[in-house]
Amino acid sequence: MAERLQKLIAQAGMASRRQAETWIEQGRVAVNGRVASLGDKADPGRDVVEVDGKQILRGEKKMTILLNKPRGYISTLSDPQGRRLVTDLVKDIPERLYPVGRLDFNTEGLLLLTNDGELSLRLTHPRHHVSKTYLVKVRGVLSAPMAGNLSRGVVIDGYKTAPAKVEHIRTSGTSCWFELTIKEGKNRQVRKMCESIGLSVVRLKRIRIDFLDLGDLPVGKYRFLSEPEVQRLKQ
Ligand code: URA
Repeated sequence: MAERLQKLIAQAGMASRRQAETWIEQGRVAVNGRVASLGDKADPGRDVVEVDGKQILRGEKKMTILLNKPRGYISTLSDPQGRRLVTDLVKDIPERLYPVGRLDFNTEGLLLLTNDGELSLRLTHPRHHVSKTYLVKVRGVLSAPMAGNLSRGVVIDGYKTAPAKVEHIRTSGTSCWFELTIKEGKNRQVRKMCESIGLSVVRLKRIRIDFLDLGDLPVGKYRFLSEPEVQRLKQ
């Protein structure tokens, strides 16, 4: 199907539509070897579209980024309450990326954003049991029996959680830090699991998804996943 050139250029991730329109007006865009005019269309399946003599990629280029989400950002694509969006942090990327799953407004840490539907499904479908590790700070002390309950499974919203891994980090005064690894992704699962054993979460940070670590990526920054990393996640 024929589409306007500025749309095809934007979909290829090369520029915004506005920018692409300027390029067309400047005579930098050609279709099948002929300089194009604003308003021209092309069929990405049949025609060769070039910018400055370089052929654009057919369709949108697939990409995935790993973001260190700060607290106080919402991981949906819009918010009726006007809160800050995670996509505000990746505005310099022309592709339209969407979050893989969710992190709560006040949860921080590792969040993937992608335009790769296959990868997103692979990571979020319950059938695949992808492991996610959270660093949890709770008010109170996580006793050994409590940790045992968490790891065997607790009942939240009338549902028993699957076995999880709990690793105590440290107890200091009235609070306690531990790592919790779960293979599910129910809404507010970690907070609810902790509440079910009488502990309230005061800080929550996702530090790992499968083999991907947050590493020392600064808060609010992102990095691109490499092709081998994407392939490994899809396996
Ligand atoms: N569990 C939660 O409770 N919140 C998150 O953001 C992620 C997992």
